[in-house]
Amino acid sequence: MKEVIVQPSLATDIVSVDIPTPSASQVLIKVVVSGTNPKDWKYPEWLSRAMNSGDDIAGFVEAVGSGVTAFKKGDRVAAFHQMNTPHGSFAEYAIAWDWTTFHLPEKTSFEEAATIPLVAMTAAIGLFYHLRLPAPFRPATEPTPIVIYGGSSSVGAFAIKLARAANIHPIITTAGAGSAFVEPLLDPSKGDVVIDYRKGKEATVAAIQAALQKAGFQHAKHAYDAISESASHDYYLPTLSPEGAIVTTVLPTPDFNPPAYIQKLQVNVGVVHDEAPADSIEAQSGCVDAWKQFGFVYFQLFQLGLKQGWLAGHPYTIVPGGLDGVGKALVDLKSGKASATKLLIRIADTA
Ligand SMILES: NC(=O)c1ccc[n+]([C@@H]2O[C@H](COP(=O)([O-])OP(=O)(O)OC[C@H]3O[C@@H](n4cnc5c(N)ncnc54)[C@H](OP(=O)(O)O)[C@@H]3O)[C@@H](O)[C@H]2O)c1
Repeated sequence: MKEVIVQPSLATDIVSVDIPTPSASQVLIKVVVSGTNPKDWKYPEWLSRAMNSGDDIAGFVEAVGSGVTAFKKGDRVAAFHQMNTPHGSFAEYAIAWDWTTFHLPEKTSFEEAATIPLVAMTAAIGLFYHLRLPAPFRPATEPTPIVIYGGSSSVGAFAIKLARAANIHPIITTAGAGSAFVEPLLDPSKGDVVIDYRKGKEATVAAIQAALQKAGFQHAKHAYDAISESASHDYYLPTLSPEGAIVTTVLPTPDFNPPAYIQKLQVNVGVVHDEAPADSIEAQSGCVDAWKQFGFVYFQLFQLGLKQGWLAGHPYTIVPGGLDGVGKALVDLKSGKASATKLLIRIADTA
């Protein structure tokens, strides 16, 4: 089969390799569409290691391991490949663990599906694990303001969709060029609002404060920073409660040192493939599989949300050339050209 190897320089080689064999709990998927994510260029570049760095898979099950019961050959699925391991999604066939694979409703295209796994799970971990907000299956019963910085990013948009599914409002979010995409995701009748961060820090802080006050609040106790760079925290920090607030970030933020009354937690979507470390609360409470269980439950919920219509994929752009387009997609992602869109690779378009 053909597989793309991304070099640290982001040059790409298409190599011919054997089709991988799934182990007991793995699924081999014939990739129809691969998603792309910023980490797909960051990992090869930052780790100085050539790799097939794609993780968002949409396609048909080709084979399953001996212990897999939920999937069979021919099933339409999406999956989150384990980051930084072989057999990623920039190939004709990819491998995923069964608990991070989910069935696709008939109406969900492979393109839509490929926009979902990694970023929707990132949104879910931040909202429901770190911020410990009410889940869609036990929705909020009272107004619960949340600031979502970067609502037009893939992570931010899924955070908005999942917050709405959990009746978390008012959602006070920011966007720039992607504002027109974000607006229809919101429910203004519950105080949701999108603010243009391009007006600057002071204007953004003032607009968030005004939206909170209009909804009857002085401050927010929860913030999801889906950007976590370019001093993004300065755009919302003054709007958080001095009586205690939690912020979840998506990147390490060494320059963001909040006051003691604000707890800062960083999402790492890769935890859904890991056992909880021995010193974690989860392991010490006897559940080393806590994060795997979280991943399993939420991927099943995404499937249900797609079927029932309360969850939808991100807007997307097909990068021409199939696997030959991976390099261009990663360079475009790195240059920040993607606004409110996922760059996708359609494998059949490969020359
Ligand atoms: N920790 C984890 O597990 C994890 C998982 C997934 C992603 N991430 C990280 O999360 C970040 C977002 O990923 P993504 O896939 O959601 O990215 P994305 O979809 O490519 O984000 C693009 C959007 O970001 C917005 N944006 C860019 N720079 C901004 C800034 N300085 N201030 C405000 N908005 C800005 C743009 O908004 P406008 O066009 O509206 O201006 C654009 O629409 C990346 O750094 C990624 O590596 C981390």
